[in-house]
Amino acid sequence: MKMLVYFNGKFISHEEIKVSPFDRAFLFSDSVYEALRTYNGKFFRLDDHLKRLKFSLKELDITFNDFDRIGEICGNLSDINSIKPDYTVYLQISRGVSFPRTHHYEDNLTPNVFAYVKLIKDNSKEINDGVKVILEKDLRWLRCDIKSTSLLPAVMANQKAFNSSAYEAVLYRDDFITEGSHTNFFAVKNNKVFTAPLSNYILDGITRKNVLELCKENKIDFVEDYIKAKDFKKFDEFFITGTTTEVTPVVQIDDWIVGDGKPGSITCKIQELFFKALR
Ligand code: PDD
Repeated sequence: MKMLVYFNGKFISHEEIKVSPFDRAFLFSDSVYEALRTYNGKFFRLDDHLKRLKFSLKELDITFNDFDRIGEICGNLSDINSIKPDYTVYLQISRGVSFPRTHHYEDNLTPNVFAYVKLIKDNSKEINDGVKVILEKDLRWLRCDIKSTSLLPAVMANQKAFNSSAYEAVLYRDDFITEGSHTNFFAVKNNKVFTAPLSNYILDGITRKNVLELCKENKIDFVEDYIKAKDFKKFDEFFITGTTTEVTPVVQIDDWIVGDGKPGSITCKIQELFFKALR
């Protein structure tokens, strides 16, 4: 299947796109990204994604100002590829090409901007039945709040999950659970929701933020506090969140079956609120 992708102002075939190996994204993972999606043809919290993108760019000192065009570019990609009404978008902005390779960078580089859209994968089985996750040591760097494409530890952990027929690897740093390789992690105990606080150890997930807002509005008790890795069996329910993961129950952690192996009641309530708000 041929697809048109966006690359630096042009819509071109995914097979024809060419990037120099001197792009600093190739040499240093010197780039940032966002993964967005639509519901009923409208972006889910586009402003939050743009805000996070601006933050990542600012932290890495990458100059890019064309934020106003991102929605339009994605809409065009969806139209010309006839991927409608709902799709996910992958958007990446690298610092640009620089020769010869040096760790430090010049300040006049031109970012390479790349985006493509994809049909949303049906995740109803995971949403309804829940998923298995594995616990893995968090080997990532200390700026996980920046959505950079420097993702090897996340890739390694997620591959381990994949090899164990698990959906996700949930990561712990020292004694504390931080988040998943590509999701935020929540636990529930005595009807109270726990998730790691915002810090340099986790991504400020937009679905996470949405879930906490829903808890607040609907008087579901919650706290942004760490879950100790050694204590995970003391919790009643778990779920993970993300743009494509939405609110997915966790029913197995490693070999341990959570409760009766079915999504918990608070998780189901949050799922219901999440999908109701979208309608
Ligand atoms: N992942 N934590 C990490 C490490 C992530 O990579 C993501 C998103 C999340 C969830 O964030 P949000 O709710 O804003 O999608 C949390 C994207 C989807 C990805 O890597 O493809």
